[in-house]
Amino acid sequence: MTKRNLIADVLRLKSERKALILAHNYQLPEIHAVADVIGDSLELALAARKATEPVLVVCGVRFMAETAGILNPGKTILLPVPDAGCPLADFLTPDLITRAKEEYPDAAVVVYINSTASCKAVADAVCTSGNALKVVRSLPQKQIIFGPDANLASYIRSFLPEKEIIPLPANGHCYVHAGFSEDDLSEMKKQGVSIIAHPECPEKIRNIADQIASTGKMAEIARKGKRWYICTEIGMLDRLGELCPDQIFFGDEFAVCADMKKTTLQELLSCLKDGSGEITLDPEIMKAARRSVDYMLDVPP
Ligand code: 13P
Ligand code: SF4
Repeated sequence: MTKRNLIADVLRLKSERKALILAHNYQLPEIHAVADVIGDSLELALAARKATEPVLVVCGVRFMAETAGILNPGKTILLPVPDAGCPLADFLTPDLITRAKEEYPDAAVVVYINSTASCKAVADAVCTSGNALKVVRSLPQKQIIFGPDANLASYIRSFLPEKEIIPLPANGHCYVHAGFSEDDLSEMKKQGVSIIAHPECPEKIRNIADQIASTGKMAEIARKGKRWYICTEIGMLDRLGELCPDQIFFGDEFAVCADMKKTTLQELLSCLKDGSGEITLDPEIMKAARRSVDYMLDVPP
């Protein structure tokens, strides 16, 4: 089947099923072409919360679909490729959190949205890359157990020295964001290209960057008319190309998230046809996770 036919079928079934398609910025351009909402983790969560359609199809990875279910429990949540996961999220377990709480009884627990619903259920607050500083700053506790991304933990520590940030585990990281080369960035800078890095990048990369931003914020910054090297997953280059067709973006062709690339038009079509990939969560876990996600969404600007 041609791409054009697949797109037509997806759009027809989407309307028949009254489904809303939410796609992360890293998804393939053809998935963006059929999506109703495209954004970063926070933008997708907010759109899921206010959705009125009975079916929400999340083109992204599992934690994004779980978050949609947590925020809008009455809906059918479909993840077209059920094993599209996030290796960063896999670094953290509820058991690790429980043990850390025993070691640091006065600490608050903040988990990155890239975590399982079970981890969110035992946390005090969730955050995304876009609101991590705001969420951690808002908590009264000085000690913050933060997981699973140790790079994001060090990013928070650099802006909030008044807090004691305890990374959990100490080596949690995203393999995509860990791979950028300082030499490439220095070379780009010599050529007058500005750098935007995702907060998941290691400190040495963040230190060279001109800006540090979530993928949603990258889309805003990029409009400001420069040539940019983007330190995040390569799909962001396609997204920025869609938003700012007259600008030039560079990136690392090896920065590919294999899980984000699992969702194809064919997978999406099958999921809309047969309702496969439904995400169901234990109601108790959903209720407990909702508390920590709501904390994030309720923190004033
Ligand atoms: P954003 O929320 O910035 O889109 O990040 C999600 C993610 O998985 C980054 O790798
Ligand atoms: Fe997870 Fe990294 Fe992929 Fe984002 S890019 S979904 S953090 S593995």
